[in-house]
Amino acid sequence: MTAQWVADAELLQAFAAHVAADPVTFAIPGHKRRAGRLDAAYGRLLDGDVPLHGGIDTVKLERGVLRDAERKAAELWGAHWCRFSVGGSSHANQAAVLALGRPGQTVLVTRTAHRSTLLGLVLAGLHPVWLPNEVDDRFGIPSGLSLPGLERALDEHPDAVGVLCVEPSYLGTLADVTAICELAHARDVPVIVDQAWGAHLGFAPGYPQHAMARGADAMVISAHKTLPAFSQASLLLARTDRLAADRLDRGFDAGHTTSPSGAILASIDAARALLAAPVGRELLTALAARVTRLRAALRPTGLLAPGPDDFPGRFDPAKIVLLTAASGRSGVELEQALQDVGIGVEMADRDTLVPIAGLLDDDAAFDLLTETLRTAMDAPAGAPRPVQAASQWGSFSPQRCTPREAFFADREAVPFAAAAGRTCAELIAPYPPGVPVLVPGEEVTADALARLRAAGEAGLRIAYAADPTLATVQVLQD
Ligand SMILES: Cc1ncc(COP(=O)(O)O)c(C=O)c1O
Repeated sequence: MTAQWVADAELLQAFAAHVAADPVTFAIPGHKRRAGRLDAAYGRLLDGDVPLHGGIDTVKLERGVLRDAERKAAELWGAHWCRFSVGGSSHANQAAVLALGRPGQTVLVTRTAHRSTLLGLVLAGLHPVWLPNEVDDRFGIPSGLSLPGLERALDEHPDAVGVLCVEPSYLGTLADVTAICELAHARDVPVIVDQAWGAHLGFAPGYPQHAMARGADAMVISAHKTLPAFSQASLLLARTDRLAADRLDRGFDAGHTTSPSGAILASIDAARALLAAPVGRELLTALAARVTRLRAALRPTGLLAPGPDDFPGRFDPAKIVLLTAASGRSGVELEQALQDVGIGVEMADRDTLVPIAGLLDDDAAFDLLTETLRTAMDAPAGAPRPVQAASQWGSFSPQRCTPREAFFADREAVPFAAAAGRTCAELIAPYPPGVPVLVPGEEVTADALARLRAAGEAGLRIAYAADPTLATVQVLQD
């Protein structure tokens, strides 16, 4: 018997019906779900690729199944408007930015914005004013947007057309999103939250509420990051009090494919149905319990493992963040130990290890992770290192031109030491936490170069730069 939540996932049902019917079709995709005639693996690869047009709906979308599924998702997350994206939160972020203001207007943007938001600013021609984040000194990790920083920016830029923030951070922490919304809404400014890492938030006890429940005007979530959904599966949800539905649609359609994968869309609908059902809550509760046990088992080894007790109400209980500095060990060595037994992890560098746990990881998977890490932590360690906040939380470099002007300007690579005083053409961020030291259009100051150099020497990966070794920096031509 089909579980009730599966019956509620109508796109999944439409997908299954199409596969069962296996119709002859003279429409795209060109593989016609017949690639198995060429090679079995090729067939397995492509047989799940059912399109929206002429797959889970008719070519003319006469059944309206996608609209119905998006309406259900809007209801679940308390939104007025929702679209499913097959272009990831990268596309959804750009769509959201395109729904704000006009070229030349100001928008307040967290310094931790994902690079897709930055490209959204390039597309929309909006001028960013960067918002600082708080950092937690106990762990040296970001702890969310600074409320005093936001208030100051709102006062100084009364014409701002929006606030863009990222909550939760990559490292599981959240700001007080309700307070962010209250501050912005007091000036009638919409708040768009990139909640790419929090598609699951708000659906079981102990999980912080999602951004829509906290008052956000729009929220971007990657279904594929924390829910059982296809890669690239993402949602943009919005309230239409301060954002216009037609602008949202135009912004969304501008960058979305005209041939969306029905399989990806159906996986979003299935993940939505799962979250809405008791089984979703049970899986989330079990996941949080497993992660709590893992933290408790690893703390005696010397690993710092921040969790909800350290950030009450402001930490994703499903997030595993392991900090190695105080133990004298390296996250990269631990990653290697895990790889040696066939376990891949999402992210590792000298001071940090982030294994991403999901709803379908069972006790056996958690036990293997825990025991492998415990064994690795028994190996001889180096000297403990101080727990340090990433250095890029400090002052921002003066902005000389907009990201859009920098994007289209002629550029050149200059030696690192000769870059001071020039205008940066690229985004450069030590990772984690991926907070840019330099964004396109900013002056390359001696201070920014020193902070980049220090981050590189501390073993952090230099992300997004054309030359990650930092031998050269891309600057605008004079
Ligand atoms: C904060 C944030 N926003 C957006 C994205 C882009 O998400 P996607 O991979 O779904 O395009 C990421 C990717 O990691 C992210 O960390």
